[in-house]
Amino acid sequence: MKEMWDKRYAQTDFVYGTEPNGFFKQQLLKLTPGKILLPAEGEGRNAVFAAKASWEVYAFDSSIEAKKKAENWAKQNNVQINYQLSTYEEADYPNDFFDAIAFIYAHSTTRSSNHKKMLQFLKPNGTIILEGFSKKQINNSSGGPKNIDMLFSEEELHSDFTACQDIKIWAEDIELYEGIHHSGKASVIRLIGQK
Ligand SMILES: C[S@@+](CC[C@H](N)C(=O)[O-])C[C@H]1O[C@@H](n2cnc3c(N)ncnc32)[C@H](O)[C@@H]1O
Repeated sequence: MKEMWDKRYAQTDFVYGTEPNGFFKQQLLKLTPGKILLPAEGEGRNAVFAAKASWEVYAFDSSIEAKKKAENWAKQNNVQINYQLSTYEEADYPNDFFDAIAFIYAHSTTRSSNHKKMLQFLKPNGTIILEGFSKKQINNSSGGPKNIDMLFSEEELHSDFTACQDIKIWAEDIELYEGIHHSGKASVIRLIGQK
């Protein structure tokens, strides 16, 4: 898997574009800046946007090519990001540290344990933002994993975030314009809530 991502990111172009994810941008701009964690952040489009919006940004990804590209993108934009080469399993931050966590297309085979682990690092009342592909996306060709177990259902996400308050989760069919790998009609799930 890591090799696949390194190969994908080794090209000069930003495969998910340089603009932040639209839902992430919309939700982030409603919040007062503080510390934010972006797990599986890829090439840094969301991290750089958040840093430019005055957030103290922490991000990680298991791809070295993603890290290099993200740090270079931050440099070009004259912002600082704390980006670690790390898997979910290796990720380690102080408990109750972040004001917000955003999971943007952060799909993996260990979804539930990843989500629960990341919640430890979020402050009480901290904000959770998530957008990812729903299981319906298996019928679309606009991107995402081809393994249905890695795609999200509303029930699965409710169960991952059951310990949190005020969680809203909904499915939407949207048009994605996020580089060559997220392009066209897409079935997504969105989540906003607080720990
Ligand atoms: C679809 S990309 C999303 C990138 C970014 N969040 C964005 O929206 O542009 C998924 C990312 O997950 C990363 N990834 C996959 N499995 C991971 C794991 N176990 N730990 C950390 N990162 C992982 C990949 O390297 C890839 O960058």
